[in-house]
Amino acid sequence: MVTIRAEIPSDTGPRESLLDRAFGRNRNRKTSQRLRHDRAPADGLAFTVLNKSGRLIGTLRLWNVIAGSAGPALLLGPLAVEGRYQRRGIGRELMEHGLNMARVRGHGAVILVGDEPYYSRFGFRQASVQDLHLPGPVDRKRFLGLELVPSALDGAEGLVTGSDALLAPMEKVLAA
Ligand SMILES: CC(C)(COP(=O)(O)OP(=O)(O)OC[C@H]1O[C@@H](n2cnc3c(N)ncnc32)[C@H](O)[C@@H]1OP(=O)(O)O)[C@@H](O)C(=O)NCCC(=O)NCCS
Repeated sequence: MVTIRAEIPSDTGPRESLLDRAFGRNRNRKTSQRLRHDRAPADGLAFTVLNKSGRLIGTLRLWNVIAGSAGPALLLGPLAVEGRYQRRGIGRELMEHGLNMARVRGHGAVILVGDEPYYSRFGFRQASVQDLHLPGPVDRKRFLGLELVPSALDGAEGLVTGSDALLAPMEKVLAA
């Protein structure tokens, strides 16, 4: 039995430890991190999974970006579930929850850099973002998009950029 709830500030420490275990300490050098660095997740789109003892065992966050000519979109990730809790459907539940909440909030499209064999089960496709570019090196096979609103990524081309203002120094302390 697990619970998905909105992330709260005290989740930060356990979330970062989980992400270090899942992706390694070099994870912050990834191109997608350039779109997230010093920004807060999109309003209402940062989620935590707790086990029955209340320990953090999963995380998913989405971020506001501008997807070139397609305009506002979300960048999904990172997504992680603690090793011993994997393959129980928690990742699927978390993804479905995050994508539903994004829909409810009126977002039209989601992009990400990740494993296509995993994300294709939620409808993510390379073709949706084939003419978009990220601000750094990326394996094109891992750059994927999903339309929450039909045609939201039709003809999308150009550079993906972060769209929320950078956090001020004090906001960074509070967000850390
Ligand atoms: C990816 C991840 C979040 C999935 O969480 P989960 O709770 O195990 O997910 P689910 O139980 O809903 O689904 C498990 C299924 O996904 C598959 N899967 C997991 N990671 C995968 C990957 N990288 N590529 C392809 N399939 C993958 C499993 O083999 C399993 O397949 P099955 O349903 O045929 O048995 C989790 O494995 C994880 O945190 N991995 C490390 C971090 C990571 O790689 N995150 C994002 C992927 S880029």
